[in-house]
Amino acid sequence: MENFTAFNPTVLHFGRNILAALGATLKEYGNRVLFIYGSGSIKTSGLYEQIMSNLSQAGLEVFEYEGIRPNPLIEDVDAAAEKGRACKVNVILAVGGGSVLDSAKVIAATIPVHHSGWDFLDGKAKPESAVPVVAVPTLAATGSEMNPFAVITNTATRQKWAFGSPLTFPKHSFLDPSLTLSVPANYTAYGIADLIAHCFEAWFGIGDASLPDRFVVSIVKEAMDIGPELLANLHDYELREKIMFSATMALNGMTMYGRAGGDWGVHSIGHCLSFLYGIPHGASLTIVYPAWLRYFKARIPGRISQLGSSLFNAELTADESILKIEQFFNTIQCPVSLSQFGVTGDQRKTIYDNMVISKVSGGNMKLKESDFYPLIDLFL
Ligand code: NZQ
Ligand code: ZN
Repeated sequence: MENFTAFNPTVLHFGRNILAALGATLKEYGNRVLFIYGSGSIKTSGLYEQIMSNLSQAGLEVFEYEGIRPNPLIEDVDAAAEKGRACKVNVILAVGGGSVLDSAKVIAATIPVHHSGWDFLDGKAKPESAVPVVAVPTLAATGSEMNPFAVITNTATRQKWAFGSPLTFPKHSFLDPSLTLSVPANYTAYGIADLIAHCFEAWFGIGDASLPDRFVVSIVKEAMDIGPELLANLHDYELREKIMFSATMALNGMTMYGRAGGDWGVHSIGHCLSFLYGIPHGASLTIVYPAWLRYFKARIPGRISQLGSSLFNAELTADESILKIEQFFNTIQCPVSLSQFGVTGDQRKTIYDNMVISKVSGGNMKLKESDFYPLIDLFL
């Protein structure tokens, strides 16, 4: 194993009716709350009303920032930070999917400073303090509720980049699986794909870690068992509960212990596709993963066949493993090529150029610019 530090300060509250304690928890940090959310799903579901009444009963003063988009933009982060600064907020409440939670983390680090939040994403600045964040995820996918990471898009620089600091873990996260009952089938599937991809990024990361390898296999098996059942029964609380728990465990540090880092090459390519074509995050990963595995199968056949054999309980070659993984993505109706999103071969250069300016590589399986075209051809 590689040396590692285990650090995860997020307090996780999981289950039915846990939101009852939300107001009192926020109050521990002060009376002035910046409440951020997306484009309307929390209003349609009735969650907005429930939260506003909870906060008002707790005597909190609430300032709102509405309209965080999927693949969230730095403009929203900076505008929300400005509002938070002007309103002298003590705490941020983020309610929504990973896009809202990620935005909250960068807003939290940007409120105390006088520059754009993008300076954190591109490494020009490191946060020295951050406003506390309390998260209420409404979609099971990213694990943002129990990790420090945030992924933000900058349309000016044409980059969708990730960042994380020990200061940007949510202080508390309230996970009520019933809040995910309204997630439509496509985003439910993309969330399942995303959590599986997080496990794969760990599996193909740096260093041998046999126990975390077993965590990976267990989490992916759970998702592969439960996923199709959930897609056939979107209103089943117990199935939602299992997927929500799996998503949190897939990216809260546990699968990375004993490794010097994950790979994240597939994620960085996926971010290019989301930036260029607005492809939802999980779908971008099911498009790229089979191609990435095929591209590297000659170099790491043993590692790919070990993964496939463990997941599908059979002695599988690397090729058979890749096929099984691809079939699973098909089963949950996720795309496995860009053409399924209507993107065709004339986009090769656009994708290549974006991979260059996004500095796509991989922590373990390094990609050079000369790898880009042959890899793109495998997922087009
Ligand atoms: O904006 P609203 O109206 O809320 O609608 C959202 C959005 O349209 C909707 N939604 C959310 N909860 C719902 C719901 N619809 C009905 N019922 C509900 N309960 O779902 C749509 C997608 O939301 P989004 O937040 O974008 O999805 P997700 O949670 O998959 O987050 C994706 C973002 O997280 C980043 C991705 O790159 C992407 O930008 N990631 C963050 C990571 C992290 N923080 O660790 C790691 C991941 O690898 C990922 O990169
Ligand atoms: Zn992801």
